[in-house]
Amino acid sequence: MTLPRFGAASFLLGIGLQGTLAAAMALASLSAWAVSTPQGLIAGRDCLSCHRVEPFRPGEARTLGPAFRLVAQRYRAQNGAEERLVRKILSGGNGQWGKDNMPPQILTEEEARTIVRWVLQLK
Ligand code: HEC
Repeated sequence: MTLPRFGAASFLLGIGLQGTLAAAMALASLSAWAVSTPQGLIAGRDCLSCHRVEPFRPGEARTLGPAFRLVAQRYRAQNGAEERLVRKILSGGNGQWGKDNMPPQILTEEEARTIVRWVLQLK
């Protein structure tokens, strides 16, 4: 009688472990997505606390930073825009959109570049 019960227990334990494994795998693929896509980076590196992708409509609450679609419109045709924006994200600054300051962002140059390339292709 002890053996089957033990069997059932290890069966349940097995399911539990599989569940944990599935959860861990889901989490791993989520963080892989977060570091590998521009949209994932933008969300994961906290850019969205000061930026949106879409411009504001009248009456909507504004964020501190410019909408990424407006950034694209302004810089798309400019030589060296990618490099300039990558530097700006890494070292922060103000004066292009107003007096509000963007603090230096915590991300790698590669991550900043991935984001900037995506931003600049927004139409
Ligand atoms: C604390 C608020 C804040 C956060 C967080 C923030 N930004 Fe900004 N961002 C700003 C502000 C304010 C400006 C406008 C700066 C200016 O006028 O020169 C700005 C400007 C920009 C610009 C345009 C720069 C230019 O010179 O025109 C880009 C691109 C940008 N941010 C990308 C990002 C990215 C990518 C992240 C996340 C890694 C991020 N920002 C996080 C506040 C923020």
